[in-house]
Amino acid sequence: MESIRKEFALDQPTFKAIVDGFKSEYAMGLNTASASGLATMIPSYVTALPTGDEKGTYLALDLGGSTLRVCAVELRQAKRSNVKVTELKRHIAPNDPLRTSGAVAFFDWIVDAIDELLTMISAAASSTSEPLSLGVCWSFPIDQTSISTGKILRMGKGFTIDGIEGLDLFTLFQEAFERKGLRVQVRALLNDTVGTLVAHAYTNPSTRIGFIYGTGVNAAYPEKVSRIVKLQQQQKAHTQPSQQMMLVNTEIDIFGSEDYLPLNRYDKMLDAQHSQPKFQLYEKMMSGGCMGELVRLAALDLIDKNLLFNGYRPQEFAIPMEFDTSVLSLIESFMNETLEVRLQHFNPLFHFTEAYVPSENDLRLLTDLCQIVSNRAARLAAAAVASLIEQQQEDLLGPRTDQKPIVIGVNGSTYEKYPTMHDRIHQALTEWFGEEIGQRIQLEVATDGGSIGGALIAMLAEKEEKMMNDLGALSS
Ligand code: GLC
Repeated sequence: MESIRKEFALDQPTFKAIVDGFKSEYAMGLNTASASGLATMIPSYVTALPTGDEKGTYLALDLGGSTLRVCAVELRQAKRSNVKVTELKRHIAPNDPLRTSGAVAFFDWIVDAIDELLTMISAAASSTSEPLSLGVCWSFPIDQTSISTGKILRMGKGFTIDGIEGLDLFTLFQEAFERKGLRVQVRALLNDTVGTLVAHAYTNPSTRIGFIYGTGVNAAYPEKVSRIVKLQQQQKAHTQPSQQMMLVNTEIDIFGSEDYLPLNRYDKMLDAQHSQPKFQLYEKMMSGGCMGELVRLAALDLIDKNLLFNGYRPQEFAIPMEFDTSVLSLIESFMNETLEVRLQHFNPLFHFTEAYVPSENDLRLLTDLCQIVSNRAARLAAAAVASLIEQQQEDLLGPRTDQKPIVIGVNGSTYEKYPTMHDRIHQALTEWFGEEIGQRIQLEVATDGGSIGGALIAMLAEKEEKMMNDLGALSS
């Protein structure tokens, strides 16, 4: 057990190496123009935040690892509480054939959901003569080339759509709208991190980071346009000089090399047997999608040495990647109950083909494993947040920023549901920055990134496009 504890330990010098490693990846990503296959530091082309005065109905679509959500967002007045959201959800099972279908079938399926949503809100839709604007929250890497266009990169999260890599997301949507005869216009493509940041900034204007911590992990933040060297090279003509900042999707999930990430033997085992080896190394060390597997692998080691479950393998450990992080979360949540209550909760979680009933010692060891893995996960999440705060050094840590809150909008089931995850991340940040700055850091649950965030970005993009058209008309 002690050797497992050591494998997962993440001390301050290692934490520093990770923060420094991430910062050099930011610099590299901002300066690298091409994104063939993989890309980090992706410019979002979102250069403004909403004022709160906006009105109208906007559509948002949110595709994640297991759900498609489409929403109609009616912005009614200055206050967010006056937003009306009508939504429709479709679950995508892990073995759903859609995941391996072709692009046409996949996009037709998505657009059918939008069609159904439009029927639900028919009154609002028919009152406008212009097509409805849609913000597409795509929780997968894309190489964005403008606010509404971008090449699809490797998807992850169990999707391997045939021939989709390299295609333009805007075109795929517009073609599907045409096939189905829908009057909808994709105005913006956004990553879930960018949607989270915008939606949370709408609630709390001090928000400076959008962080996703669920099945996947990723973050967005506002970067000075002058530092996005690759943007200046690629898009000189499109970028307005007055635009001082742009939200950047870091795709921090992809970051990581052994130079600074302390990959241990279990991380390496997980990666080697994964459907996408060598991809998303950082994410695999700490995401909700992988924590259960890390506990499973470490537990199997103990079982093989007869130290756990008397050497018996529970059925729950039979298949790689299928021991769910929610079980870890459950085990930690009853950790402080009496032994009797804990055993009552614990015993039904594991089933053996032999007549074996887990003992008190099994319970203690397994709880320890969960804590060892989740403590490291919290510190890894904190290292990402710390590096993003430092990346905004001047604005957040400079001499004229005293006492101002540093707000991070966080979305995702691992952050929201895993016991004390918030406190552990915050504590690691306080250890890193010291008490004074630690007190200014506020990690807040951010919801609605894919719905209200997507709609707000579609609205901002539509506004910007109209303004540019008006300017064009004036100067011609
Ligand atoms: C994965 C995706 C990334 C997304 C994150 C959180 O890491 O590659 O685009 O933001 O999950 O959902």
